[in-house]
Amino acid sequence: MEQRQELYAGKAKSVFATDDPDHLILHFRDDTSAFDGERMESLARKGKVNNCFNAYIMEQLAAAGIPTHFVQRLSDTESVVKKLDMIPVECVVRNLAAGGLVKRLGVEEGQALNPPTFELFLKNDALHDPMINESLAETFGWATPAQLAEMKALTFRVNDVLKQLFADGGLLLVDYKLEFGLFQGEIVLGDEFSPDGCRLWDAKTREKLDKDRFRQGLGGVIEAYEEVGRRIGVRFD
Ligand code: C5P
Repeated sequence: MEQRQELYAGKAKSVFATDDPDHLILHFRDDTSAFDGERMESLARKGKVNNCFNAYIMEQLAAAGIPTHFVQRLSDTESVVKKLDMIPVECVVRNLAAGGLVKRLGVEEGQALNPPTFELFLKNDALHDPMINESLAETFGWATPAQLAEMKALTFRVNDVLKQLFADGGLLLVDYKLEFGLFQGEIVLGDEFSPDGCRLWDAKTREKLDKDRFRQGLGGVIEAYEEVGRRIGVRFD
C-alpha cells in the first residue's frame, strides 16, 4: 500500500490517504496535548507506544466481535485503517467517577458508578467538545437515533471486554471515550484506544496510569503507558 498526501493532522495523530480509497494510514506522533491543545509536549516513544497499544486493543475488540476500522500495524508508529465517514460525536462510559464528571457534579473521585454512565459530547475543539444528548444529535443531524443506539450498545460491549482485560492486569478501567464512523453503511469503531483517551488506575493503590499523569504534571507518563501495556500483554517491539 502506498502512502499519499496528508489529509488531516490532529493533536496526536496524522491521517494520510493511500492508493486505496477505502484505506487510510494513521501516524501516531509523539505529540501530547491537554486542555484542548493549550498544553502541548513531545514525549519520547509515545507514538510507538500508543500505536502498539491501540493495535492490541483493536485486535482484542475485533476478536470479541466488535467492528473496528483497524486493519494492521504498518510500522512502529503507523497503522492501516478503513476509511470511515466519522460521526462527530464522542461516546464516554464511566465505571468510576473522575475528571469531567467530578468537576460537573461535585461527586467524589473514585466513587463506583452502578450502572456505568453513558455520555455524549460533540467533537468540536473550538467549542471545547460540549456535552450533548440524543435529541440534539438528531435535530442537528450529527447522528440518527438508530446510529446513536448502535454506538451506545457497542460502547457498552467494549466496556465488558476491556474492563475484564484490564482487571486481569490488576487495573481499573475508570472511563474512556470512543468515536465511531460509517463504513459501507455499518457503524464501526474508529479513532484509537490508548491511555490518551481513557483512565486506568492500579486496582490496589489507585495510582493513575493514563493521560491524567500529563494533565496533572505527575511525570512518568510514557512509563505508565508501558507498564499498563506490559500488564495486559501488549508487545512494544
Ligand atoms: O474529561 P472527561 O472526564 O469527561 O473524560 C472522560 C474520558 O474520556 C477520559 O478517559 C478522557 O481521557 C476521555 N476523553 C478523550 N477526549 C476527549 C474527551 C474525553 O479522550 N475529547
